[in-house]
Amino acid sequence: TLMLRSAGRPPWYAADGKNDPVYMVGVAGGSASGKTSVARRIVQALDVPWVVIVSMDSFYRKLSPEESKQAFLNNHDFDHPSSYDYTEALRCVRDLKQGKATSIPQYDFAKHAPSTESQRVYGASVVIFEGIFALYDPTLLSMMDMKVFVDTDSDICLARRIKRDVTERARDPIGILQQYDRFVKPAFDGFVRPTMNNADVIIPRGLDNEVAIDLLIKHIQRQLDARSQALMRPALVRQFRSEDD
Ligand code: ADP
Ligand code: C5P
Repeated sequence: TLMLRSAGRPPWYAADGKNDPVYMVGVAGGSASGKTSVARRIVQALDVPWVVIVSMDSFYRKLSPEESKQAFLNNHDFDHPSSYDYTEALRCVRDLKQGKATSIPQYDFAKHAPSTESQRVYGASVVIFEGIFALYDPTLLSMMDMKVFVDTDSDICLARRIKRDVTERARDPIGILQQYDRFVKPAFDGFVRPTMNNADVIIPRGLDNEVAIDLLIKHIQRQLDARSQALMRPALVRQFRSEDD
């Protein structure tokens, strides 16, 4: 399978992408709603060798020195749709969707800046694209086979965000609340929640919703099995033909 993917698109794939062997899932939802946790659970459960999670953190736009100064004062808006570079996101996702290797930038939340190292990914059969605006950009949406929105109560999200940002993102609770009031909450109401309309599936309570997650995993696995059978068929036909010759 890896050889097929790294060799590019085999000639029998339908031009409309219906036979595309790479399955792409978009996972959106509020900050700390459980997007990453749901994506990781899917990865653990799927019986396929190559699965990659692409996080939208990788595509935050680089800040100017003045913007960076404001970011450390919790005065920078990271929650407006324009804070992401969708062209760069599209480059990575398109490479993966076409079965190619790609480099994914990494982000350092403590520094409000991209890390110096990016991650090299050598193709995947399942790509999970996760982020608050994962279901926002029309081109990205058109490449997704399944669109998921994680819908967790905002008080639970805020409590989890405070804990996570203090322990993992080098923030202080007062600053987190200031940023939340000023940017995170208004952007969620104004921009993020409306993208729920683009979802195929809404998961209330995130990772706690074991039934919904189990259904998701079963659906993805079924789609992958059907695709690998569709891929095998032309190969078998060709094999029989050459035996006939
Ligand atoms: P997101 O990717 O949406 O920002 P995460 O999956 O990273 O959210 O979750 C945010 C924080 O909340 C993490 O520290 C994670 O461990 C925790 N968390 C997520 N889901 C649950 C849950 N169901 N129960 C307890 N903690 C959770
Ligand atoms: O992982 P999560 O979905 O919570 O990441 C998105 C959040 O990260 C946004 O709500 C944004 O406020 C926050 N963020 C931040 N500092 C940065 C970049 C993003 O607090 N430098």
